[in-house]
Amino acid sequence: LTQIWNTVAAWRDHRRTLAGRTIGFVPTMGALHRGHASLVERCRRENEIVVVSIFVNPTQFNDPKDLERYPRTLDEDLALLESLHTDDILMPPVSDLYPDNVDRHRVEPDSRSPEMEGLYRPGYLQGVLTVVLKLLNIVEADRAYFGEKDYQQLKVITDMVQDFFLSTKIIPCPTVREHSGLAESSRNKLLSAESRQKAAQLFRALSTAANPAEARAILEVQGFAVEYVEERWGRRLVAAFLDGVRLIDNISLDSRPDYASRP
Ligand code: PAF
Repeated sequence: LTQIWNTVAAWRDHRRTLAGRTIGFVPTMGALHRGHASLVERCRRENEIVVVSIFVNPTQFNDPKDLERYPRTLDEDLALLESLHTDDILMPPVSDLYPDNVDRHRVEPDSRSPEMEGLYRPGYLQGVLTVVLKLLNIVEADRAYFGEKDYQQLKVITDMVQDFFLSTKIIPCPTVREHSGLAESSRNKLLSAESRQKAAQLFRALSTAANPAEARAILEVQGFAVEYVEERWGRRLVAAFLDGVRLIDNISLDSRPDYASRP
């Protein structure tokens, strides 16, 4: 039976009763899709207790309009999580995670030379790290599951956990894609049917271009407003707007020859 916890205090009381069980955690902002489902399924296989949080974290939105129009599909989210045999869903109000409604403290990633998301979305990585630190401390999980789609997010979280000696193990999980190659993302819900088809070009350009400059050129011709295409950590990463919706994706550079040789 899935239980919903609407306050941090109520969850923490319940958490005490779970001592000795292995706990897996999937943090989300709702608007769940098959990517999230794959995280929860893996979490279910590897832990006795599955905890999912749904919290649209205001501090990681640098653009208030983006926060306002972030998709919210609570009824569907709860039904999906129940069908995946989630034990506990955490849905704290903003005032629980940010009691003063301000960031009294923030986790600052290495900001000497901001790059990619850190450059184009000021405050975003700080907002993510801050809320993830809070959530990891609240849930006290053995393992927490993150998608590789937000690769830089995964990277800074893994580094934070290591640097601050947090005891939760971060488990990276592969990106789930639609048949077209488009990476599953909550923001896909904001695309028209036509744009959604076009959005698959993002993955195709990443996979087929000889280098980042070529990937950028391919996308610009198709009407994408490209913020960056870069290669880091053995991956090629992209952020681009399509019809006003910001999409990101990345692939492993090792996977390229394989894809390129497909018909
Ligand atoms: O990837 C997300 O959905 C969010 O950035 C996260 C990790 C839940 C933090 O708010």
